[in-house]
Amino acid sequence: MSCSREGHEVPGRLRPRSSNHSRRQPMSTLHPHLVMGGLALTLVGCMSHEPGPIHALTFEKDLKPLFLRHCLECHGVETKEAGLDMSTVANMLTGGESGPALVQGAPEESILLHLIEDGHMPPDGEPLSRDETALVRRWIAEGAN
Ligand code: HEC
Repeated sequence: MSCSREGHEVPGRLRPRSSNHSRRQPMSTLHPHLVMGGLALTLVGCMSHEPGPIHALTFEKDLKPLFLRHCLECHGVETKEAGLDMSTVANMLTGGESGPALVQGAPEESILLHLIEDGHMPPDGEPLSRDETALVRRWIAEGAN
């Protein structure tokens, strides 16, 4: 925002003062820097606000916080209900008493997703919202990394 305002001021200011040569010189060396700086800031600002390419979901960044809230108290390193530890992808692939809980790239074959969608897991406490369930499905479909 600051960039575009400065960009408009520059030509407006320079024109009425064009008679004074000694004043124009420092201004013409100064303004390009201001304009460039402002432009760079504007570009950085725009880039950080744009959605950009859709990033692939990852266990550590996107799923672990969700599982921590809903699953890990029963399926963690210490308590492994039904033999299932959901604290790492590798352990979900190994799974529990019923075999692999997770199949990478295959939501339909992933028991943990079925149990969430059925409302069977978590057995008590706060169920996953529709968006959270969709996130789990998307993560598995993307390869569950
Ligand atoms: C309050 C404890 C508790 C919570 C929280 C919980 N589970 Fe479970 N889970 C169990 C118990 C007990 C079993 C075994 C009995 C059953 O299937 O109901 C189980 C079984 C499972 C199984 C089957 C494992 C196997 O190999 O048989 C999966 C998969 C599973 N849970 C996934 C989840 C997911 C995903 C979450 C979070 C959304 C979750 N659970 C939250 C207690 C819990």
